[in-house]
Amino acid sequence: MVDGDIRSTGVLFVCLGNICRSPTAEGVFRKLHRELVPQLALHIDSAGTHAYHIGEAPDPRSQAAARLRGVDIGTHRCRQVEIEDFRRFDYVLAMDRENLARLQQLRPKDGKAELKLLLEYAVDIKANEVPDPYYGSRGGFEEVLDLVELGGRGLMAEILKRQKDPRP
Ligand code: 4NP
Repeated sequence: MVDGDIRSTGVLFVCLGNICRSPTAEGVFRKLHRELVPQLALHIDSAGTHAYHIGEAPDPRSQAAARLRGVDIGTHRCRQVEIEDFRRFDYVLAMDRENLARLQQLRPKDGKAELKLLLEYAVDIKANEVPDPYYGSRGGFEEVLDLVELGGRGLMAEILKRQKDPRP
């Protein structure tokens, strides 16, 4: 991704509504970035495959759960995935298979983004989807935080590895 004159690695997290899982993943990944490798040029964002909540702030339950872990996601405003996202971002990462399938349908032929499940980057866990917490209990929001942190750590390691050893 190119931001003005700066070349950065673009990471877009995607769920259904862009009010629970993907803004949480974005906030947790921003925190990992700040704490672990602030010198790394990253552009981090999130979006939803559906339009239900465009312009809204994240779900108050997601905001509260994230705040307890020192992650502020309150300024995010929901947006829907755009075709240009597949050209601008290097990684487009879905929270579950349903959203991955929708992204695969949307991806234009010249989209160069790596399109995967976020949890493909997580090591030492069996889960490969981040479950939708919207209709569930409070525990679901904690689980989202746990899973996106594991995925985010693995993803950061992959980005750093590729910077050292770029593909041709
Ligand atoms: P998210 O959760 O995809 O993690 O943001 C949902 C948010 C809203 C809805 C479903 C899931 N909804 O049906 O409105």
